[in-house]
Amino acid sequence: MGKIIVANWKMNPNSAEDAKSLFDAVKNGINNSKAEVIICPPYVYLSLLRGLTLGAQNVSIKESGAFTGQVSAVMLKDIGVQYSIVGHSESRQYLKETNQDINQKIVACLNNDIKVILCIGENEGPASTPGYGEAKERKTEVLDSEILEGLSGISEENLKNIIIAYEPIFAIGTGKSCSIEETKQSISIIKNAISKIYSQKSADEIKIIYGGSVNSQNAEGYLQEAGVDGLLVGGASLKPEEFIKIVESAN
Ligand code: PGA
Repeated sequence: MGKIIVANWKMNPNSAEDAKSLFDAVKNGINNSKAEVIICPPYVYLSLLRGLTLGAQNVSIKESGAFTGQVSAVMLKDIGVQYSIVGHSESRQYLKETNQDINQKIVACLNNDIKVILCIGENEGPASTPGYGEAKERKTEVLDSEILEGLSGISEENLKNIIIAYEPIFAIGTGKSCSIEETKQSISIIKNAISKIYSQKSADEIKIIYGGSVNSQNAEGYLQEAGVDGLLVGGASLKPEEFIKIVESAN
């Protein structure tokens, strides 16, 4: 199975024209890639872009009705979107989303045949600095509760429609990517949580990707050495050449 490379454009670029040219540059540059590439632009550009798998950056808990400013999984499905990011740390922080909200968003996606990219990650770190043992405990606590509460009531059968994105907050947009060693530790914490809730088989099979200051220099290290199934790329996904190199490193 090929690696999964997700582009999270966040609130960029500023015009439809720039969005189309960024998308086309990526589309033309990743010919013959073995990776599954998923582009997550702002909502307003989703229906303008065709030819690569699309994801939304967030989704409403609700399916329709008086929820000003929100976009439902039903609407995403209707325009051909296949994925949604859920629980990104920026949505947890700025939109005050809780694990319970995130759980309901996951349910809304799965009910409407939208696959989920569930973002989780601890706030402080890197845990490899002094106080390591304690920091590891705190990291485990955060990741465990984000998984346990986020996936509450989700059937084991549905795990195949969920990708977990491990995104330590200290590494997002900072240029301070998480070390391979620490990423491995986090992957095993996540797999352990999944095996406790579901089964060892599901822990072995669940797709886990890494996000946080990924670039063309460090991408291969994560893919080859950290044992991840792919990458979630923010800043570097806005630079076509850089993003294409990241996709190529997954071949
Ligand atoms: P970054 O963002 O690659 O710019 O660190 C990753 C993310 O927030 O998804």
